[in-house]
Amino acid sequence: MIAAVALALGSLFAGFAHAGTVVWTGDFDYYSSPNDLNLWSWSSEVGEYQYYIHGSENVTSYIAFDPSYKNPGIAGETNGLKLTIDPTSTWNSAFWRTELIPQTTANLGVGQMYYHFSLMHNTVNTPNTSYEHQVLFFESHFTEMKIGISPNASQLSWCVQSTPQLEFAWTPGTWYNFAYDINFTAGTVGLWGSTGSSPLTRLAANVAASTSTNSEDWHVGVLAFDVGTYKEDWYISGVYIESGTLTTSLLSGGLTVGGSPVGGTGSSSTTSTTSTGITSTSTTSSSTKATTTTTSTTTSKASTTTTVSSTTSSASGATQSEWGQIGSVSAPG
Ligand SMILES: *[C@@H]1O[C@H](CO)[C@@H](O)[C@H](O)[C@H]1NC(C)=O
Ligand SMILES: *[C@@H]1O[C@H](CO)[C@@H](O)[C@H](O)[C@H]1NC(C)=O
Ligand SMILES: *[C@@H]1O[C@H](CO)[C@@H](O)[C@H](O)[C@H]1NC(C)=O
Ligand SMILES: *[C@@H]1O[C@H](CO)[C@@H](O)[C@H](O)[C@H]1NC(C)=O
Repeated sequence: MIAAVALALGSLFAGFAHAGTVVWTGDFDYYSSPNDLNLWSWSSEVGEYQYYIHGSENVTSYIAFDPSYKNPGIAGETNGLKLTIDPTSTWNSAFWRTELIPQTTANLGVGQMYYHFSLMHNTVNTPNTSYEHQVLFFESHFTEMKIGISPNASQLSWCVQSTPQLEFAWTPGTWYNFAYDINFTAGTVGLWGSTGSSPLTRLAANVAASTSTNSEDWHVGVLAFDVGTYKEDWYISGVYIESGTLTTSLLSGGLTVGGSPVGGTGSSSTTSTTSTGITSTSTTSSSTKATTTTTSTTTSKASTTTTVSSTTSSASGATQSEWGQIGSVSAPG
């Protein structure tokens, strides 16, 4: 049901690429080396990111910038980020975590905002889906990405209030582009996305959420429940926050706070038949609130597999899946 609605909206909005206003940019070209992140401190809040959630090793153990670490579909950025977590990367807990936090005096939690990012992993130092990972999350977990959770630990899940809404095949080497669509006035969040260089289309209509941020609690990084002696590499690029109207195309120009994002090659289409290449499975139902109950309900959750192709958007292969309510797993900030 939800998925069908999302597809209808996607067709309506796919052709628009009007640019909003950049309120904060997290592009990694800003830094000449990872060591520059250490210039930031609570008493000297400089740069684009706060860097304090990390392990005890040198920053170069956790953070690297390189052109090969970005989505090549984003022309307006030179470097992407390779973010590493490993057994040394614990901070205030046993969780493995390396996280960057926006450094800005701007209010990132008012009106209509779009939180943009692109995410990739590879077969080398691949994230271990045996464990829950909280990815690009807000402190309160009103929205985030996760792997390693029900209903399918191998997939990338978009969650609202810790409850999975959509799952994506989490294919190594594939760039997943997303924008959290957050209406802080209405208290709702939705999701836009694509793969590769394709423009974003709406994947999920906005749903109610406890949207809030103190403008320094969006964790650009990963908190993981891993146990072991290996490490994991995560690739992130195209990070910025936009107010007003969503830019659906990937960037072809640099970002200036207060300016408009310059859209990429996918932006000119005014048709509604845009290929996103992204496949998602909806797991939403009428009861979307996470609870801490451990009752393993067998409530049937309607789930529809949707595939967006280059010529048509059709809901196909409707499947039923059943899964118990997940326990809400929260971690200290
Ligand atoms: C971290 O490593 C870099 C590169 O090897 C080096 O320049 C820097 O001094 C190191 N920083 C610390 C705090 O050891
Ligand atoms: C992932 O975790 C599982 C469970 O602990 C473990 O058996 C497996 O070896 C891990 N994978 C890697 C690549 O370390
Ligand atoms: C879980 O997701 C993976 C990746 O999309 C897929 O290959 C696998 O078939 C899924 N497993 C189940 C039980 O649906
Ligand atoms: C955000 O919510 C407010 C209040 O419901 C509404 O007036 C506004 O149109 C919404 N903005 C968007 C972009 O949907």
